[in-house]
Amino acid sequence: MHLFLKALQGEGFLPLWLLPAFELRDPARRRYEVPLETPRAGARATATLYGLQFSEDPFGIVVYREATGTVLLNTTVAPLLFADQFLQISTSLLSPFITGLGEHLTSLILNTSWTKITLWNRDMAPVRRSRLGFAPEAGAAGASWQCLSSTRPFKVKGSAGRLPAWPVRWYPFMPPYWGLGFHLCRWGYSSTAITREVVVNMTAARFPLDVQWNDLDYMDAKRDFTFNKKTFKDYPDMVRDFHQSGLRYIMIVDPGISSSGPPGTYKPYDDGLKRGVFIRNATGQPLIGKVWPGPTAFPDFTNPETREWWYDMLKEFHDQVPFDGMWIDMNEPSNFVEGSQQGCPSNNLENPPYVPGVFGGRLQAGTICASSQQYLSSHYNLHSLYGLTEAIASHDALVRIRGTRPFVISRSTFAGHGRYAGHWTGDVWSDWEQLYYSIPEVLLFNLFGVPLVGADICGFASDTTEELCVRWTQLGAFYPFMRNHNDHGNRAHSAGETVARPLFLEFPKDPNTWTVDRQLMWGAELLVTPVLEAGQTKVSGYFPAGTWYSLAGDSTIHSKGQWILLSAPLDTINVHVRAGHILPLQEPAFRTAESRKKGMTLIVALTTDGFARGDLFWDDGESLQTFENGDYTQLLFLAAHGAVLSELLRTRGQADGLLLTAVTVLGVTSAPWRVLANGTPVEDFSYRSDTQVLTVPVSLPMWEPFAITWS
Ligand code: NOJ
Repeated sequence: MHLFLKALQGEGFLPLWLLPAFELRDPARRRYEVPLETPRAGARATATLYGLQFSEDPFGIVVYREATGTVLLNTTVAPLLFADQFLQISTSLLSPFITGLGEHLTSLILNTSWTKITLWNRDMAPVRRSRLGFAPEAGAAGASWQCLSSTRPFKVKGSAGRLPAWPVRWYPFMPPYWGLGFHLCRWGYSSTAITREVVVNMTAARFPLDVQWNDLDYMDAKRDFTFNKKTFKDYPDMVRDFHQSGLRYIMIVDPGISSSGPPGTYKPYDDGLKRGVFIRNATGQPLIGKVWPGPTAFPDFTNPETREWWYDMLKEFHDQVPFDGMWIDMNEPSNFVEGSQQGCPSNNLENPPYVPGVFGGRLQAGTICASSQQYLSSHYNLHSLYGLTEAIASHDALVRIRGTRPFVISRSTFAGHGRYAGHWTGDVWSDWEQLYYSIPEVLLFNLFGVPLVGADICGFASDTTEELCVRWTQLGAFYPFMRNHNDHGNRAHSAGETVARPLFLEFPKDPNTWTVDRQLMWGAELLVTPVLEAGQTKVSGYFPAGTWYSLAGDSTIHSKGQWILLSAPLDTINVHVRAGHILPLQEPAFRTAESRKKGMTLIVALTTDGFARGDLFWDDGESLQTFENGDYTQLLFLAAHGAVLSELLRTRGQADGLLLTAVTVLGVTSAPWRVLANGTPVEDFSYRSDTQVLTVPVSLPMWEPFAITWS
């Protein structure tokens, strides 16, 4: 079990990442452990902020803060239970400000009034209190639930898995640059003609588009690795044509492999059978459930042979249809019949002593039998790892096939997922409530180490409205993964460390930030305040103490740490730059491949003492391991005493050809009479005394250090 709690406390200290770093093992009998690598401490730390006490009888652990003696974790409050299908560890909570604990439709701060949280990945549209696709506990792959209460001990009960692993810092994968652009998808683009038309319409509307997607529609009888030879006859050509115009292409792949065709008619199944890649039922035969194509077998991605087979199938398909990334869906795994076509045997794994609080208490509901057998263990132990193991297999296959940075978006996730893939938040409703909930979800996934995350912009299920879609698109521009996708049958097609982070990460000492989840920050420097209600043209946002400039440079807020009412007409989303930061921006273009060649501007947001800093990491946007190989350019920008300077920290030529075209300095208190760029006077600078904005047009090579001064 790896508790991912963040307890914020009111002592004026930095918040505490409460990640219990201990393991409890049965020395007499080795039990199943989640097959994930977790970092190990190599040596004892020389200085510790926290102390640890053990109590032998009753057994318990107490963690306290050295400086103050404040108890952070105390498991002696109730018995520790360590049985075969039942684990219990309880602790008193230091504070009611708890966040994390997996993917649920929830506010950022969890409700601590006897809330039961179930951890068991499940295909269902987000509704309150349900478990969606993410389990952050490295040890809770099987069913478990957690109960939170502010007045009583906090309990973690489970029916599988091990107890605490080390706190984990997993480094997320670096997505390709194009993956950060706009993605367009829909269930119901029923032919290549329609998919092509959508792209034409987007181009005509000058709506930026980097990646076009297809849902199940491209498949022949909804079977993976096939395409409909009538409606998608020119599918390979369509993808090649997209590439010609600088567009990327992604299609859906489901894990369920159609098993009902006569032998010799569908290679993925025939070959998979031969190679033994499918999850087995109690009699050792492939377990057969039912998904979109009808009867289906489920690949066991914990088996190395399955990963090889998955690679082979993808490679063969890619040789025909040169896709750029994968959308892996239905991988909880989802099953339209309970357990299997034959039901499930009756045993302890199917009917554990404690079952999750939802789904009518049935582990098999919407998925496969818990006692089915996988290469590494029973499905009972591996259930919530299904999406992660598929993501790893897909990520690795894409690296081998394409030799560039892989792009995989998955519905089901588990701890460590961010190393391999991103996530979208499933079948959200097109309503205002779910627009709001997308913010805490994006923030939580960033905390879970899965920064590439987003919700279906405008909503997936049911019809959206124009106003909702506009507001959702404004916010969606700040989802790290920005995709518009919607259900078939709804609306017309072309209407239209952490990346995103909660305010409390930047302002931990300000208790007002702890519960803010209707705003988000991008990095340390941008504060985004979207409108989340219908019919509103004003929005109230919290501004931590300091100076904040509107991104457009037309207004400045000097906040003491206060709520501020902002004007927000329908065509506007409020974005503020935090004083002290320098932002490199690029002129927009229709594709990121074009925009990344355009001129750069710097927004320099000065503190009241006239300082700011920022940096730029720049690589080719697609090669593997650029950071590890040092194959990138890094620039540092500094502003102080009436000057902005750049320093080249490292370069391998990536910024060659990139021009700095303007510098906008926010917070220049008196009108400059002279501006110099690398010592040469700039005649056409402008200064507005009402907004205190200095604008300096330049044309300077970014690959050489530069200095802009004003006096
Ligand atoms: C369920 C996914 O969540 C949704 O996004 C997709 O459109 C359908 N499956 C059909 O593939």
